[in-house]
Amino acid sequence: MFHDFKYKTILAASTRAAWQIDDVIGPGATLDFSRPFMPENLARTGGLTMLRPEEKLTLNHIRAHEYLSLFGVVEEFILPFVLDHVRDGLRESDEVQVQAMLNFASEEAKHIELFKRFQQVFTEGFRRHCDIIGPPEAVAEAVLGHEPLSVALFILMIEWMTQSHYVDSVKDDAELDPLFASLLKNHWIEEAQHAKLDTLMVEALAKGKTEAELHAAVDGFMAIVSFFDTGCRQQAKFNLDALEAIHGPKASEADRLELLNKQHQALRWTYLGSGLVHEKFRSTLGGLSQNQLARINALVQKFR
Ligand SMILES: [Fe+2]
Ligand SMILES: [Fe+2]
Repeated sequence: MFHDFKYKTILAASTRAAWQIDDVIGPGATLDFSRPFMPENLARTGGLTMLRPEEKLTLNHIRAHEYLSLFGVVEEFILPFVLDHVRDGLRESDEVQVQAMLNFASEEAKHIELFKRFQQVFTEGFRRHCDIIGPPEAVAEAVLGHEPLSVALFILMIEWMTQSHYVDSVKDDAELDPLFASLLKNHWIEEAQHAKLDTLMVEALAKGKTEAELHAAVDGFMAIVSFFDTGCRQQAKFNLDALEAIHGPKASEADRLELLNKQHQALRWTYLGSGLVHEKFRSTLGGLSQNQLARINALVQKFR
């Protein structure tokens, strides 16, 4: 095991770090649309030679709206999944575990609200509608139809991914809009404890499983990854539609296709690749089975 995560210390840390939505995005909060919101490592608009600078900036804003909106979508299935897992603590009469998991669920509910607040502020400034894949209920139904260990692995990957997004790409980027950067910072603070709770959840769900059972769970995990990859393609199309609604259509079909392919790859890296390569996610999966980790390695290249 690479960690010493305990429900008690996680709960204490999360209680210390908790914040209120109004402190992060209060009444009158605004975004500065003259600045980028998303870090270039995730937005990947810089190298799109077929776009003018103002188009790149608009696409960056559309990507930022997509980013927090999709986190809202994802957290709508994390919340019921975590609540289901509260029962495990009840069965074992572990009050601290129950409290930690309930706290986790309530923080995700708060994040969903935070992202909705952001969408309002964004729409007020952007003054255009940007489509988002979904609806969240349909995404939740598709994901939660898989076995719990498959879902828990996917959630674990997402939680660690948010950590590296903030630390590697947002924290030291002074160009970014301060409100957007602060939303990501505050989300990162609470997600740090979620990633640890997810690790414990994955280990509990995997306990006693045979290699064949782990293989089946990773099959389910890969099916969820593939489901989201299809979603990334659709979302990239929505983003281009929103961009063209503002700046007009691209002159050539070839440019449009190249733009779509490159942005699809940018979304793949944002939501899948950057999670699959995360060292902590890989340690947990490798701790269950090196064979199953090797299967994930084969996927990484596709999502870089
Ligand atoms: Fe969250
Ligand atoms: Fe979370």
